[in-house]
Amino acid sequence: MTTTPTARRMSAAVAAPVAAAALATAPRWLPPAVIRLREWIFTAVNGTEGVAVPGPLVGPEHFERVYGHPAAEGRSAGAGLSDLFWYWLSPGPHMHQEHLEPGEDYRTVSRTTRSVLAVPHRRADELATAATARALRGLSPDRSSRVHLRDLMMPVWAEVFYELVFDEPCPPRARALVVGNADDVVRALKATSVRHMDRRHRLTRYLLGRLRDGTCPVRLPEPFTDQETAWYLQGAFFNTAVVQMSEAMAHVLMCAAAAPDSRDRATDDDALDRLIDETLRVFPLFGIAHRITTAPIEVDESTTLPTGSVLLFNYLAYQRTGPASDDAFDPERWRTLPRSEAHFIPYGVKANRACPARGVAPVMLRAATREVLRTHAVTSTAAHTRSLPSGGPAYLTPDGACPPSPGRLQAMRAADRWADTGRSLTQLAFGTWMVLDARRQRLSTRHFAGRDRSGGRPATTEDRTPAAPEPAAARSGR
Ligand code: HEM
Repeated sequence: MTTTPTARRMSAAVAAPVAAAALATAPRWLPPAVIRLREWIFTAVNGTEGVAVPGPLVGPEHFERVYGHPAAEGRSAGAGLSDLFWYWLSPGPHMHQEHLEPGEDYRTVSRTTRSVLAVPHRRADELATAATARALRGLSPDRSSRVHLRDLMMPVWAEVFYELVFDEPCPPRARALVVGNADDVVRALKATSVRHMDRRHRLTRYLLGRLRDGTCPVRLPEPFTDQETAWYLQGAFFNTAVVQMSEAMAHVLMCAAAAPDSRDRATDDDALDRLIDETLRVFPLFGIAHRITTAPIEVDESTTLPTGSVLLFNYLAYQRTGPASDDAFDPERWRTLPRSEAHFIPYGVKANRACPARGVAPVMLRAATREVLRTHAVTSTAAHTRSLPSGGPAYLTPDGACPPSPGRLQAMRAADRWADTGRSLTQLAFGTWMVLDARRQRLSTRHFAGRDRSGGRPATTEDRTPAAPEPAAARSGR
């Protein structure tokens, strides 16, 4: 079929404005379209394994009972999804507390974590307050500073958890290593970057050196090796703790920026707790936690989940059911609504490996939030979503200084929207690459191949190295 010059001119006349309109409105439609595409690729590569909870088979009324069921105990073995989580939390993912199967090793590791975190609340408050004050001293004392809240808070938690583990103030070199590691993990998790294993290995080497020269007070007992202890410390305290606390603070401060009365809360701890809890209700840090069933679980008379089911517990979906199911940000709801009556599980479900920091983390978050709001006003016009891939751009204005002008706030909003558009394409590319790379490396699958479900203890200490060492390409930090 041939087209006439007139027809060609007409098509161009239609196509040009359509393309221009598509480009101009890209910040509105492109990021959600890319998220849908990413989800589709994720499912296509990993398969559709998994039972969504809550979902068609397990309603919200059964959520906590099924989560807390003794047979919902498998953590890694038997789920293809584990390969991706192991990949993200490398090196030494088989020593990460979250990934350990139930058994003696898990009990030893979790006891050690609990003992490190067993600090009096007063000390936890002091540590977090002092580290936050040090971070704020790095900002201008007489004008607004533009920051990314997650980046601002990472050194704070690096210092706090270093001090808890090593029982001494955190030197700048160690802080830089911890921040380098945690920042790399969080960026890979959000697919705004690929992994840089060299940054992570630098921290492992540092921790191993401290264990070998006898200057690390926390040590897993025999037969765990120094190498295994280094991986464990890195995973729990210099990865999970620093990432989760920095993410939580970025969310809390973004919410504080949007709440007109937030600075008044700095003098009232109950009001701060309400702000923090409401933040974690609207933006739960965990997306999905998974478990693999080791025996059938009867949900109701018509549904039984068979052994080997991969259960995907969706925190946001569950928190959007029950007596506090709306999206409105209203900290004052907690004046009358008991936490135990809402579907509110920011730190997990007690009966099944809930967060070991659930006692100390709220105290530390409160202290850090109090210190920021006591000294600074927080302003942001950037978008606030649960995954917050932007890291929370904001202005921090010290007392007595001029707040950012409407023009600067307008510019922040526009820059954030366009950055989000570009970032969504980056996330699509990096996310797809990492899903494929994790599938190629199969860290969890290879670890459990030929062992029993518990991961089987190797006989000699020489053997206590990962069953599936990472390929050289990953070690080089590509
Ligand atoms: C606001 C901060 C935090 C939130 C919202 C949070 C949330 C959670 C949640 C929901 C779980 C359970 C996941 C599951 O059921 O699979 C969990 C587990 C865990 N968290 Fe946290 N967490 C936070 C801070 C911390 C800190 C400071 C540490 C310090 C070490 C930590 C260490 C862990 C570990 C090791 C686990 C795995 C527990 C196990 O499997 O035995 N978390 N966290």
